[in-house]
Order: sequence, then C-alpha cells, then structure tokens
Amino acid sequence: MKLFLLIIIIFIYLFSTSQAQSPRSNYNIAPGSTLYTNSSPNFWPSPSGHFAFGFYTSGNGFKVGIWLVDGSNRTNKTIVWTARREDPVVSSGAALQFSVDGSRVLLRNSNGEVQSIAEPTQSSAVAASMLDSGNFVLYDSSSRIVWASFDRPTDTLLVGQKLSQNTALRSSTSLTNQSVGNFELWMEPWGSLTAFPKISIPVTKYAYWSSFTDSAAGQNVTLNLGGDGRLYLENSTGYTVKNLTEGGLSVNRTNLYRATLDVDGIFRLYQHQVGTNGSLSSKIVWAAINEEDRCQVKGTCGLNSYCSLRGSGTACLCPPGFIYNDQQRPQDGCKLNFSTGDDCLEDQGSNSYNISHLENIYWEPDEYDLINHIPHEETCSNACLGDCNCVVAKYKDPVCYKHKLPLGFGMKNDSSGIKSLVKVRIGGFPKGGDRIVNKKTGKDFVIIGVFLTAFSLIVFLSALYLFYAHQIWSYKVTSRGASPPDVVEEINMRSFSYEQLVLATKNFEEEIGRGGSGRVYKGSINGGKEVAVKKLIKMVEEGESEFRNEIKIIGRTHHKNLVQLNGSLANLLFTSEQRPSWNERRRIALEIAKGIHYLHDECETRIIHCDIKPQNILMDESWTAKISDFGLSKLLKPDQTRTYTILRGTRGYRAPEWHSNNSPITVKSDVYSFGVMLLEIVCCRKNMDETLRDQEVVLIDWAYHCYEAGEVQNLVIEEDHVDMEELEKMVKIGLWCVETEFSLRPTMKQVILMMEGFVATPPPPSPYSSIRG
Ligand SMILES: *[C@@H]1O[C@H](CO)[C@@H](O)[C@H](O)[C@H]1NC(C)=O
Ligand SMILES: *[C@@H]1O[C@H](CO)[C@@H](O)[C@H](O)[C@H]1NC(C)=O
Ligand SMILES: *[C@@H]1O[C@H](CO)[C@@H](O)[C@H](O)[C@H]1NC(C)=O
Ligand SMILES: *[C@@H]1O[C@H](CO)[C@@H](O)[C@H](O)[C@H]1NC(C)=O
Ligand SMILES: *[C@@H]1O[C@H](CO)[C@@H](O)[C@H](O)[C@H]1NC(C)=O
Ligand SMILES: *[C@@H]1O[C@H](CO)[C@@H](O)[C@H](O)[C@H]1NC(C)=O
Ligand SMILES: *[C@@H]1O[C@H](CO)[C@@H](O)[C@H](O)[C@H]1NC(C)=O
Ligand SMILES: *[C@@H]1O[C@H](CO)[C@@H](O)[C@H](O)[C@H]1NC(C)=O
Ligand SMILES: *[C@@H]1O[C@H](CO)[C@@H](O)[C@H](O)[C@H]1NC(C)=O
Ligand SMILES: *[C@@H]1O[C@H](CO)[C@@H](O)[C@H](O)[C@H]1NC(C)=O
Ligand SMILES: *[C@@H]1O[C@H](CO)[C@@H](O)[C@H](O)[C@H]1NC(C)=O
Repeated sequence: MKLFLLIIIIFIYLFSTSQAQSPRSNYNIAPGSTLYTNSSPNFWPSPSGHFAFGFYTSGNGFKVGIWLVDGSNRTNKTIVWTARREDPVVSSGAALQFSVDGSRVLLRNSNGEVQSIAEPTQSSAVAASMLDSGNFVLYDSSSRIVWASFDRPTDTLLVGQKLSQNTALRSSTSLTNQSVGNFELWMEPWGSLTAFPKISIPVTKYAYWSSFTDSAAGQNVTLNLGGDGRLYLENSTGYTVKNLTEGGLSVNRTNLYRATLDVDGIFRLYQHQVGTNGSLSSKIVWAAINEEDRCQVKGTCGLNSYCSLRGSGTACLCPPGFIYNDQQRPQDGCKLNFSTGDDCLEDQGSNSYNISHLENIYWEPDEYDLINHIPHEETCSNACLGDCNCVVAKYKDPVCYKHKLPLGFGMKNDSSGIKSLVKVRIGGFPKGGDRIVNKKTGKDFVIIGVFLTAFSLIVFLSALYLFYAHQIWSYKVTSRGASPPDVVEEINMRSFSYEQLVLATKNFEEEIGRGGSGRVYKGSINGGKEVAVKKLIKMVEEGESEFRNEIKIIGRTHHKNLVQLNGSLANLLFTSEQRPSWNERRRIALEIAKGIHYLHDECETRIIHCDIKPQNILMDESWTAKISDFGLSKLLKPDQTRTYTILRGTRGYRAPEWHSNNSPITVKSDVYSFGVMLLEIVCCRKNMDETLRDQEVVLIDWAYHCYEAGEVQNLVIEEDHVDMEELEKMVKIGLWCVETEFSLRPTMKQVILMMEGFVATPPPPSPYSSIRG
C-alpha cells in the first residue's frame, strides 16, 4: 500500500514537473523558429503528440490555434484555443514566428502585415513550448512562464487551466468557425458561474444557467478542471466551493478531458480517448443543461420568435402573424407581418384583431403588465385585445401577462401549461378607420378641448383646459346633456353633442395625436378657433373614469409646466431632424422635474402621475415642456404617502413595484419613470432601441455600463457637443432614480437640487444590485 502511494506520488511529481516549470529541451521552440501555412508540418506538437499549436484551416484560409490531435486522421482537429478569434482568416503564405529577440510570437500575413499572437509583458522569452496539458507557454531566462494560452481562454477549459473571476468562456459561431458566437459563461466576482446570451448585458434575469454559488463562495473563486474529470469551483485558499462534476473518472495518459461552452450555449464536459492506432474518440460525460431542455438556452432564437426542439437540434419559429426577418436565417428572429404605429398597434380594438392560440409556448421574462385573479383565458384574451400595446398575452391560471414587442427568449415547454394568446390582424390592412365604441348606447361622448391662443394649433391629448375656464364659459354652445354630470358640476365643463363635433372636425378628418385611450383630431369651432378633440376608443367604462379623472385633476392643478401643446417630447427627441442642443435638453429635463415636483409636493391634492414618458410631455412653440395625460393619475390625500392600485403605466417607464403585489405605489414610482426619461432626454434616444448594437439596446443597462466604465461619452454623439461633466451628473441622477428599491430613489426635490448643482450627486448604486444578489 505504501509502495503504491509512493509510486503515485512520484508519478504525480514527474508529471507535474514535466508539465510546468522546466522546459523539456527536446520540445523547446527556439527564438527565430518559424512555421508557414504550407510547410510540413505547419504546427509545433506537444511531447505526447496529443496537442498541437500552429495553423489550422478555417474557411478559405488559416487561423492560429491549439487543437487536439486525432492520430488516425490529421485533418480532424478539435480546436481548444484560437489566437485573435475575431480577426479574419489569413491567406496561404502567412508565417508564424517566435521572434529572434524572444519578445513575442507573431503572425506575418502574406501582404507583410504583422500581428502579435503572444507577447510577454515583463521580460523577453528565451523559449516557447507546447505542453502536454494543451498550454502553449513562453519561458524567460529563469524558466518562469511569462505568457500562457491558459490565461486567455476562448471557449474551452483544459485540465489544469483556471477560469478566474471576471473572465468568461465565449462560445464559437459554429464547429468550423471559432469566432465569438452567441453565448458567454462568466466567472462572476461574487463566486457564481453563470451563462448568458451575448445579446444582453449580464443581468440575472437573462441568465439561463448558474452554479448557484453566490453566497458563501468567498473571494476569488475560480473554475477548475481536474485530471480525473472533476469540474469544480474553488476559492483562493484552495477550498472547493462546489463540485459541478464529482470526477473520479479514469486517470491515464490515453484519457483527455475538456470543458467547452458549445456553439449551442450548453457547457459540456468531454472525455477523449486515444486509441491504440492514435485515433481519437469523444464522449460527453456531463452537460450543464439536459439535451431535452436545450430550448432553455436563452438567445437560441432571435427576438419575436420561439425555440422548439427539432431532431437533435432546435428550430426557431415565428408566432402567427409574424414572418422571419431573414428567411435564410431563422435564428435571427421574426417581425410582425404588418406595420405598427409609433406607440401602439395600428387601429386597435377588438374588431380588427383576433386571438390565435399557441399551446405551451411562452416568452419571458419581460411582460409589461400582469393581471392577477383572471378566471378564464378569454378574459385574458380580451384584456390583450383591448390594449393597443399588447401583442401577446400569456395565460397561466390565474395570471394574465401582457407582452409588448419585442418578445424575448421564446420557448416551447410541453409541461408548462402556459397558453400564449397572440393577437393577429383580421383580413388586410384597414386604413385608419374610426370607430366609437358603444355608439348605440348613447354613452359615447367626445369632449372638446378649447384653447384660446388664437392661432396656435392645440394638441390636447387629454381634454379640457380649465386654466382658461372663465373664457370657455363665454361660448354659447348647446349641450346635448350627455356628458357626465359630476364633471360638469365640479369644473364647469362645456359639453358638445357628437354631431357638433363631427361638424367641427369635418368628420374627424385630421388626426393630430394619439394616446393609449384615444385619438386627437384637429377641429375648429365658432368661426375658426382651433380646437383639439379627443376620441375615446377604449371600452367606455374604463375610458370614462379615466377621462373624468383627468379632467378633475387638470381642473384643480395650475402650473405652467402642466398644459400641453404642439407635439410631444418624444417627437422632439426621437424623430425630429434637429436634436435639441445640450442646453435645451438640460432645460427641458429641469422643467419636467419641476412639474413633477409640483404634482408631488406643491398641489393641494398630491398627485402621482403614473405615466410619465416622453409621449406625455408636450412641447409648446418655445419648446417649453408641459406634462400631460393625467388619465392614469392617482390622487393622494394630503396625509397619505402610499397607495395600492391596479397596474398602470407604460412598459419600460414603469417602476418595478408595479409588478409586485404587495409593494405600494408612491411618488417614487414617478421618480423611476422620470429617471428613465431623463436618460432618454440627455442621450436623445429611446429607452428600448432594438436597432442598436446588442449591449446598447436597453438604455438603463447601457448607461450604467458606460458610467461604470467611465465612458459616458459613448452615450451621446460627438456632434452634440455635450458637456461631459454635466452629462455624467445627469446620468448619475437618472441611475439613482431607476434604483429598484423605491425607498432609495431620491425625491423630485432632491433631483432638482442635484440637477441645479445645489447638492452633490453621489455615485449611484448598480441598477442590478437588488436583483443580482
Ligand atoms: C465566422 O463567422 C463570422 C461571423 O460570425 C464571420 O464574420 C466570419 O467571416 C466567419 N469566418 C469564417 C472563416 O467563416
Ligand atoms: C477526417 O476528419 C475530417 C474532419 O472531421 C473528415 O471530414 C474526414 O472525412 C475524415 N477522414 C476520414 C478518412 O475519416
Ligand atoms: C474559502 O472557503 C473557506 C471555507 O468556507 C473559508 O474558510 C476561507 O476563508 C475561504 N477563503 C477565502 C479567500 O474567501
Ligand atoms: C483576489 O485577487 C486579487 C487580484 O486578482 C488580489 O488582489 C486579491 O488579494 C485576491 N484576494 C484574495 C483573498 O486572495
Ligand atoms: C468534491 O469532490 C471531491 C472529490 O470527489 C471531494 O473530495 C470533495 O469533498 C467534494 N467537495 C464538495 C464540496 O462536494
Ligand atoms: C485508460 O482508461 C480507460 C478507461 O477510461 C481504459 O479503457 C484504458 O484501457 C486505460 N488505458 C490504460 C493505458 O490504462
Ligand atoms: C483505429 O482504432 C479504432 C478502434 O480503437 C477503430 O475504430 C478505427 O477504425 C481505427 N482507425 C484506423 C484508421 O485504423
Ligand atoms: C474527430 O475527432 C473527434 C474527437 O475529438 C471524434 O469524436 C470524431 O469521431 C472524429 N471524427 C472523425 C471524422 O474522425
Ligand atoms: C402576411 O401578410 C400578407 C398580406 O396580408 C399575407 O398574404 C401573408 O399570408 C401573411 N403571411 C403570414 C405568414 O401571415
Ligand atoms: C377568431 O378566432 C376564433 C377562434 O380563435 C374563430 O372561431 C373566429 O372565427 C375568428 N374570427 C375571425 C373573424 O376570424
Ligand atoms: C417546463 O415547465 C415546467 C412546469 O412549469 C417546469 O417545471 C420546467 O422546468 C420547464 N422546463 C423548462 C425547460 O423550462
């Protein structure tokens, strides 16, 4: 027994010395050594012959890398490392040289262009070696390793290699193309190993696999692969935090192990066996995700599509009413088969859409609205049909989730019991016909907003303007008496008959605005006074109460930044040719902050607006911002600071507490929406912009990323001549406002003080801090 142990120890000793410090002279590569793409061989082998470093063919050229050698078929290379993954292939005639002065290993293209492959930072190297472990190393004169391919992992971890914190394995594009593909496996600084699709900034909600070792992991946790096939996480004192695989597999010189984040995003451990004739076989000994669950890998299919198992692979399919972005590349996602308006699906209403059912298919996790206690699927369908933002509703008894475009991470799960209700357009493409719901009941009403600045065009997305109420009284327009009496009583509202409004708007000819609850038309009354008429096209009960709310609030609220005219801030920021200058952006942001502050703190009745977004900020001719659309507002009694309410607001601008059943809605919910909008104003882009590069799609994430990296300049374009210090301050304020925990968000008053520079703006917390754990 003792003898046996001794032998093992000696064996391990020999093995480790041969592998590490002292270079084995036979296999040393001397400075000046050169390989050519067409020379034979065009690689440097390891002593065992199982690994090689050199040129391998890729596409119509060559890449430099390390591979597992199949002794019975030399063209069958299992690539474990690639230099300069993202570079194009080099053509025939290129040379790989360990420079004569030992300063680096370089690649000389056939056109003479030179690139570094390996370059020690400290001292020059005197020898290079392809080790049996699969590590290509450079040694200095005292035989210390000064450069190692093991320190720069690509998609594969080999025995003895460590994946250290804040580094990642990145999957390859395909088996024959080693450039970076769609997935990343991160060794996170807090000790967990987590897989994400590359399209997202790593946020927990997009993770599709994790080692779940966040908490007690300790510091500097690394991922390691042992010689017996044990894949484990270890902290810096050598303590095993978690075994991903138990190991104990056979250890001998004909067995090789590798762990690879495969092209399909699944992290797998492979065992390779070298046969007597040198042939190489391979076997999967462990996979992070079971084969039957491979659709769980988020990012397998692009936006608006869903993943379904097909044979040994996956298929990306479009929901009804959608077509592929690119017929040739289904994995790139789908788009609607009809155009949508800016904000909402065109011509919303239950008459132009029908619901198509998809069993066991769902998208996650970004629903914008969630309704609890829904007893029937049909109620959920109707909720989606009645909401122009809704594209798909997901129903799982008793909860109805509403989704807006884009739909992310769709998948089929036969045991999920989830129904997806997809809104599909009936027939062709109606050209914006107008419809008033419930016309027969006589309940339909259209109320006119009158503004008395004689020549300016008024866009009243909401309705009546009581700032000028005394002037409205002077109109002698007969009422049909159909308007809600309490509204009339409270605010002396003038009402008009439907016929009068048809006349005034020339049968709703010119549409000038559109909101969640209705459309706004231009009209004229009393010899040319221009007015805006809002038509409510939602279900009447809901629309009516919303509308009354709005009227009452406006009636009691007086502030110069609270009326609206002349196009919205959204137009100015997102569609206008002429972007507002930096100073204008600052001014607009400050005005809006003051308007919200007034609602929150200075009104007689405190008001939570509930739907702060650029579409609801209207601009007058001098670009003064006016907050509008009080349709969703929540009134607070003076001594009340929080309220529980049904879900309201617009996706993207809505604070996380809206999704939680037991968190109250407070003024801080508006602060969140303001924060999102502040970032939009200073960066002059939408919160969600799918046309941008992957990591820039979601503005909050991107802003935090830039802030943290000290690169806020990347948030704006150079021609904007933005004051970077000011920008950073605004970004910090915005990030504070979108803090997940509402109690940590500043009040609007604090926001204004920070914006005006009266108080300093502390560094914001990570917007993920509370979700990432
Ligand atoms: C590998 O894929 C990338 C894009 O993913 C592409 O740009 C490159 O040309 C491909 N290389 C080869 C050799 O096919
Ligand atoms: C050798 O491997 C290559 C690449 O895997 C394969 O295309 C080829 O058919 C193999 N040749 C033989 C003789 O097995
Ligand atoms: C590693 O884990 C062990 C056991 O939990 C612990 O005692 C040790 O302090 C940890 N080391 C570090 C550096 O966190
Ligand atoms: C963790 O690693 C960093 C550098 O990577 C080092 O500065 C630090 O001392 C390490 N911490 C521990 C506990 O080993
Ligand atoms: C991990 O596996 C090794 C070898 O099988 C074993 O000694 C160790 O106790 C295991 N550690 C944990 C945390 O499971
Ligand atoms: C190495 O281990 C494998 C089992 O995985 C065994 O089949 C093979 O015979 C062993 N080879 C030697 C040389 O012991
Ligand atoms: C090498 O041996 C394996 C079995 O170990 C056999 O399947 C394979 O056909 C052999 N290949 C050649 C080229 O002889
Ligand atoms: C190529 O090598 C792998 C081992 O990495 C082996 O599984 C596969 O069968 C080989 N393919 C051919 C065609 O020889
Ligand atoms: C897309 O719309 C066109 C025109 O209405 C129709 O002919 C076609 O069948 C639709 N395709 C799908 C996949 O719905
Ligand atoms: C709407 O869908 C239902 C089934 O989901 C179907 O019975 C009905 O005929 C459809 N209506 C129209 C107008 O297509
Ligand atoms: C499918 O749904 C079931 C039930 O909700 C769940 O337990 C399972 O984890 C899901 N499978 C996948 C691959 O998401």
